[in-house]
Amino acid sequence: MTLQGLRFAGTGSFAPAKIMTNDDLSKIVDTTDEWIVSRTGIRERHVAGPEETTSFMAAEAARRALEAAGWEASSLNLIIVATLTPDKPFPNTASLVQARIGATGAACFSLEAACTGFVYSLEVAAGMIRSGLVQRAIIIGAEKLTSIVNWADRNTCVLFGDGAGAVCVEACPDADNSYLGSSLGSDGNFHHLLHTPIGGCAEPLTAENANDPRRYLVMDGKQVFNIAVRSMVSASERALAKAGLAGTDLDLLIPHQANLRIIEAIAERVSTPRERVYVNLDRYGNTSAASIPIAFDEAVRNGRVKRGDKVLFVGFGGGFTYGASVIRY
Ligand code: ACO
Repeated sequence: MTLQGLRFAGTGSFAPAKIMTNDDLSKIVDTTDEWIVSRTGIRERHVAGPEETTSFMAAEAARRALEAAGWEASSLNLIIVATLTPDKPFPNTASLVQARIGATGAACFSLEAACTGFVYSLEVAAGMIRSGLVQRAIIIGAEKLTSIVNWADRNTCVLFGDGAGAVCVEACPDADNSYLGSSLGSDGNFHHLLHTPIGGCAEPLTAENANDPRRYLVMDGKQVFNIAVRSMVSASERALAKAGLAGTDLDLLIPHQANLRIIEAIAERVSTPRERVYVNLDRYGNTSAASIPIAFDEAVRNGRVKRGDKVLFVGFGGGFTYGASVIRY
């Protein structure tokens, strides 16, 4: 089978106007700006209002990406929304985005791979485009994590924020391919280290457990930290090897934005100089599936990524899922 080429046509992102600083958080839980900055690198995060649902933010990011690509929404064949915070259990969030942006005719589904959701979605879209199944796709990572964090738990509530990022990708008739190499993986044995324990069909919410703190995100941060570094380094190395590149060849490394110490450990082990690593978690916190596409959009708009640049995306999240892809912008 002859594979089609793929090109990145446009990016967009959205963050709610409301900002919560570390000092704001110190009025809610027993924490300090100094603790949060030194342990994570996070200084502030965006917090969505009641009307700013995941599909709302995803649609805003999508409109900006479509505008950057110069595409009509009606020309889309595929919408994938990576999220672990859907507006509602079903239908899928991509269909809600479709209605908001008027992309009648596109196939729609959500993809849940936690913080690796964007990398997984890109792989799926790239596969469908390269095999000729679709011509134009938009991949969106969008999260309203502030709706699932326990605001009484300082171990987790200081880490997360809300936002959305979107990327338009299309088949490239001259077979010039910009999807250079990738590697996805998961280890379900660790599912209990980062999860929302109840509220699914295994233990539905009832009048009796409605106030159980296990209805919120629960994480064993220390264990997650170690496995995150290991998994993201190995996924990066495999994706780079498939692309025939070394970490030093990259123009930009865009890692999932969870913790500055995790990002620095990955950059060092992959041998990408610090000035070629994109960091914006100081302003967003961890926005899970939205973090990589928000960072990518910022990097495109502020000139850190230029046409032809080689970029590595690498993510890690609940599951545990992990994955990396090397692209040429
Ligand atoms: N303010 C002050 N103290 C705190 C806070 C806080 N916000 N949170 C925890 N502490 C305390 C704890 O109670 C603990 O105290 P104790 O020792 O008396 O019990 C102590 O600080 C723990 O400190 P450290 O061990 O130094 O914490 P650590 O360096 O492990 O940092 C952190 C914690 C930031 C959570 C880190 O482990 C981490 O980033 N883990 C990875 C998270 C991640 O990457 N998730 C990615 C996936 S997210 C997704 O998929 C949705």
